[in-house]
Amino acid sequence: MSNIIVSPSILSADFANLERDIKRVEKAGADWLHIDVMDGHFVPNITIGVPVTASIKKVANIPLDVHLMIENPQKYIEPFAKAGADILTFHYEAVLPDEVTQLTEYIKTFGIKAGMSIKPKTPVEEVLKYLPNLDMLLIMTVEPGFGGQKFMSDCAEKIKPAREIAPDLIIQVDGGINAETGKICKNFGANSLVAGNYIYNSEDINRAIALLKA
Ligand code: DX5
Ligand code: ZN
Repeated sequence: MSNIIVSPSILSADFANLERDIKRVEKAGADWLHIDVMDGHFVPNITIGVPVTASIKKVANIPLDVHLMIENPQKYIEPFAKAGADILTFHYEAVLPDEVTQLTEYIKTFGIKAGMSIKPKTPVEEVLKYLPNLDMLLIMTVEPGFGGQKFMSDCAEKIKPAREIAPDLIIQVDGGINAETGKICKNFGANSLVAGNYIYNSEDINRAIALLKA
């Protein structure tokens, strides 16, 4: 069995047929379901919020991997945890450095995994000291905000120093991931791949997920 966690981003699903599109990736072997929460402030786009996440929880049979691209993530941890998030990831750039550890511990009080994400311009060296407390580091390989963007290969290089100091950490990448770019990230030490466009626009979803897991 592969130890790569594949998390399809439902940002590329048909929102009018969300349950159908969740079942499609579940049947094709998805491990987690990636939910992109955007507030129109931290990123220019607005997407999914708490009520939709709670509705997804009722139909999904795999863990909900919730990626918060929002300002003031502290305010929304409890609502998203109660809506059914199993992994809750906030952005390092949305909080003050001295709030990181407290926020991480707060997420864990809900009995769920705590993740932190960095945008392309944030050096990974800045966050290495937080890794021992985190369950997951999410390295963005595009500017957050939209699906379907081009993979930034220099961002993938950030995986290596993180993996060196944190052998057991879940290191996830998100943005422009397909079979080829996913391989680059796995070679650097990533063990979780998010993919929206590549999975949902593929003619053979089973094969697309299998290639990411390989
Ligand atoms: C971008 C989101 C991603 C996005 C990925 O801000 O965080 O999760 O849906 O989409 P693709 O895989 O199409 O780049
Ligand atoms: Zn995402």
